[in-house]
Amino acid sequence: MDSKGKILVTGGAGFIGAHTVVELVEAGFDPIIVDDLSASDKTLLNGLKELFGREPKFYQGDCGDAKWLGDVFKIEKDISAVMHFAAFKSVGESVREPLKYYRNNINSLISVLEKMKHYGVEDLIFSSSCTVYGQPDVIPVNETAPFKKAESPYGATKQMCERILEDSFASGYKIISLRYFNPVGAHPSGMIGELPVGIPNNLVPYVTQTAAGLREELTIFGDDYDTPDGSCIRDYIHVSDVARAHVQALNYLKEKKGEYFEAFNLGTGKGVSVLELIKSFEQANGSKVNYRIGPRRPGDVVKVFADASRIQTAMNWHAVYSLEEAMRHAWNWQQKIATSK
Ligand code: WQD
Repeated sequence: MDSKGKILVTGGAGFIGAHTVVELVEAGFDPIIVDDLSASDKTLLNGLKELFGREPKFYQGDCGDAKWLGDVFKIEKDISAVMHFAAFKSVGESVREPLKYYRNNINSLISVLEKMKHYGVEDLIFSSSCTVYGQPDVIPVNETAPFKKAESPYGATKQMCERILEDSFASGYKIISLRYFNPVGAHPSGMIGELPVGIPNNLVPYVTQTAAGLREELTIFGDDYDTPDGSCIRDYIHVSDVARAHVQALNYLKEKKGEYFEAFNLGTGKGVSVLELIKSFEQANGSKVNYRIGPRRPGDVVKVFADASRIQTAMNWHAVYSLEEAMRHAWNWQQKIATSK
């Protein structure tokens, strides 16, 4: 079968990148993964190999190293678009090590944009985040909401990256920025999923590791917020829905003529509290999660969920997986890695 084009996927060995690689292959594209494996190992690449029955195309290196990245463009010759996932993403770590985040996240985007220009590649899908909104005044939040002061250096890097895109798209790019809410779950096949290094920062891997007995108990960060049950509210979206949106965005971008830049929220539109998420996990999997209530986590937004109507209208995309399915898939994956390590 003829390929629909080579797509450079930076961060393609990571959680969202690897799931998008699967969707790209299913849609007939030819993904080229670049990843420095600084926040992942080869586990997901091996999962992709199992899924495809062949090695995924992979270059190990840091895409912030412009010379190295240029060599990849040169070797591959006819890259038609870039999906730029590679970035550090831990909110808490970014508070402790801000320069690490500013250097990596900003530098890698600049080097991607420069090399795209040099090699005549126009189309870019950028991984942005709902953290660009800070704590929004109006919920569900839509894309016209102002960027308030970011709660963390991580969020600030995503705001800055979007500013860089806004300032540079008119010099010959077509760009879509996808603002992720909270991607969770795992591929329904159980071959790939989330693989945090060390103690998980994010809620769902902590939940699955606690249910698996790898952690004694989950701490809920605060139950005295101004929400119906007192815990924080987020918009949890299945990672395969996130991945599929990237392929739709790529097809949408290919139809655009001339310079273009637009941001789209990627969420389900449903707000779910921490306590509700735990209940959903327990019901979906018939298992118990040990938890206790702890203090609030500094930097947490109280409540945020998406108005996802812009992407629905433009690309006819909407989330298809339920939270229960996401919880089942996350548990399925947790059990697989627990037995394979
Ligand atoms: C979710 C909720 C915690 C752990 C993430 C990404 C960030 C970004 C947005 C994009 C919060 C609570 C957590 C625990 C808990 N996006 N929690 N106990 O902070 O919304 O940020 O989504 O891609 O990059 O990191 O996600 O999973 O850390 O927290 O009670 O042990 O779970 O307080 O309310 P967050 P999270």
